[in-house]
Amino acid sequence: MEFDTWLDDLPKHFAADGDILTSHVLAVLSSVFPDGEDYFVRSVEAVRDRIQDPRLRRDVEGFIGQESMHGEEHRALNDRLAELGYPTGAIGSYVRKLTAIRERLQNEKANLAVTAALEHYTATLAETLLTDPEARAELGYDGVRYLLLWHALEEAEHKAVAFDVYKAVGGTERMRIAMMWVVHLNFVLETSIWTVISVAMDPATRRHPLRVLRGLRRLRRSPFFSLRAVRQLFQYHRRGFHPNDRDTTELIVEWRAKLFGSDGKLTDLRAS
Ligand SMILES: [Fe+2]
Ligand SMILES: [Fe+2]
Repeated sequence: MEFDTWLDDLPKHFAADGDILTSHVLAVLSSVFPDGEDYFVRSVEAVRDRIQDPRLRRDVEGFIGQESMHGEEHRALNDRLAELGYPTGAIGSYVRKLTAIRERLQNEKANLAVTAALEHYTATLAETLLTDPEARAELGYDGVRYLLLWHALEEAEHKAVAFDVYKAVGGTERMRIAMMWVVHLNFVLETSIWTVISVAMDPATRRHPLRVLRGLRRLRRSPFFSLRAVRQLFQYHRRGFHPNDRDTTELIVEWRAKLFGSDGKLTDLRAS
């Protein structure tokens, strides 16, 4: 995967129709990924030797490989976004500090509970993106869209791994659900605060304040904030929930074929 060669002519407001606000929200999300995913990998690696089930052990290897690759590709995008003036570096260092604090204060199970909760976030975003053409249109620029589609596909593929590891080491339902509330609070706060900072730093905001306000309305109506997506997110609070309760096997097969065709190489969908 080498999406960086697709990013040379990335415009500053790359999201749908040059929307300022959506571009900043996506830039914030991309900035959080690499260090967040490093934390996911460390959480799973910390207990990997204790996993007995050979199938889950194999899934863990796949999970670690996929998350490391995502981090690498998002770093390339984040470097390009930094050149365009987005505060991706500051957001990355904030995530590194936050995860270091978590790892100092929390035990292994709690770190896995956070990882499983955030994996449900990525699985929900992924399913929305892969099922809804309107959601895909929000991503705008091709290089970003295909990076996120590839990422979404792999998130759907490994959505149950961190969850199963958490359960395999004896993680309780109580901690799993409680930790999701912490993750909700943290996610909403950090995404909104960083988006406000990022938007405020953008000279285009001063030139076109109304465009930013219109973006707010657009964001509220976007498929990512739809009732369907929110309901799916909150299914995690049900006792006995498992990520595979939602069967996405067919969706994965469909998108693997679309993105990678028969030769296993990423299809350049820009030309089609
Ligand atoms: Fe990922
Ligand atoms: Fe993931």
